[in-house]
Amino acid sequence: MQYDTKGMPFRRLGSSGLRVPLFSLGGWLTIGTTVLGDPVKDLMKTAYEHGINMFDNAETYADGKSELEMGRVIKELGFKRTDIIVTTKLFWGTEYGHNLGGLSRKHIVEGTRASLERLQMDYVDIIFAHRSDPTVPMEEVVRAFSYVVDRGWAFYWGTSEWAADEIEEAHGIAQRLGLHAPVVEQCEHNMLHRERPEKEYAGLYKKYGMGTTAFSCLAFGLLTGKYNDGIPPDSRLAKHQDFSFLKELGDSLGTEGGQLKIGKIKELTALAEKELGCKVGHLALAWVARNPNTSTVIIGASNVEQLLDNLKALEVIPKLTPEVLEKIEGILGNKPVPKPTYGRPSLDAFGRT
Ligand SMILES: NC(=O)c1ccc[n+]([C@@H]2O[C@H](COP(=O)([O-])OP(=O)(O)OC[C@H]3O[C@@H](n4cnc5c(N)ncnc54)[C@H](OP(=O)(O)O)[C@@H]3O)[C@@H](O)[C@H]2O)c1
Repeated sequence: MQYDTKGMPFRRLGSSGLRVPLFSLGGWLTIGTTVLGDPVKDLMKTAYEHGINMFDNAETYADGKSELEMGRVIKELGFKRTDIIVTTKLFWGTEYGHNLGGLSRKHIVEGTRASLERLQMDYVDIIFAHRSDPTVPMEEVVRAFSYVVDRGWAFYWGTSEWAADEIEEAHGIAQRLGLHAPVVEQCEHNMLHRERPEKEYAGLYKKYGMGTTAFSCLAFGLLTGKYNDGIPPDSRLAKHQDFSFLKELGDSLGTEGGQLKIGKIKELTALAEKELGCKVGHLALAWVARNPNTSTVIIGASNVEQLLDNLKALEVIPKLTPEVLEKIEGILGNKPVPKPTYGRPSLDAFGRT
């Protein structure tokens, strides 16, 4: 299949030379779990035909079945390897055991090889440490990912949901030892979850040119408004009660805090419909995409209809004027407070803070 960007904007992956599409497609809880066989092909083909040439996975998604399905479909659709960007993540393994997960050199090397085998590929474009591992010395982690890059099994490595000080430590070691440093963080970023991507990481974007591959930008579906009147039977929060945090999220919706969130989503819905002529889900995705530190927004879609619906967010990005963004802040009321400057006069807006 010939790749056509179909007008998809591209951004650099942080300060690296890799150009990534502003919207990419991920496989968590969908590909290999609820989406199997031909529907995977429909989903990935549709994505590709709409300019999405980047696909995100992890060894742990459906215990390896997500990578198997993606690898199969990439082969069957005949995507040219140079046209696509494939990413995977290591940490949780595909089964439980002392050395079957985590970030030891053993698991990083064995896990990478196993992922490549499932994907039927010689390399992935980016490999992520799916979480940090406090039981492994950071130097071992950086050396092992650097080795993976040097072997050509991945072109870049990144972190996922690491604390800012852990990312700093990895950079310090890479710099000191002349190793490859992480170039990207895969983090949760959405209108209801902002502290880490917008405050904790604030210094890292400038200092290391870090980019993000943002996930759960619809807050697991909440920001589509589908949970405003309870949990629909065929939705993620109904289907995946086995994930304790999803069960807790579902249970929390009836509480005062949950209802506060729903109230905000209803207000955002009114703003999206009346002022932007779009659905709240489009607004939510566009809002993450317009953040200059976002390299790509990873879409999660259970079917082709959701994917196509979510891509309408592209039309909303230019509508997010400073005035509209201000109104959104007014509704959300959760803008992270920057670190204090203790009353010192502010610097010229274009200089380094
Ligand atoms: N690094 C990490 O730790 C991490 C963690 C999470 C995700 N990720 C990556 O990021 C990707 C996206 O994350 P996510 O799936 O949590 O994203 P999300 O956009 O917050 O949630 C996606 C889910 O919301 C529902 N949905 C999506 N579009 C919809 C629409 N237009 N209308 C109604 N419902 C809609 C669907 O669930 P239902 O149809 O089932 O309700 C869909 O599976 C994942 O696939 C994965 O690649 C990474």
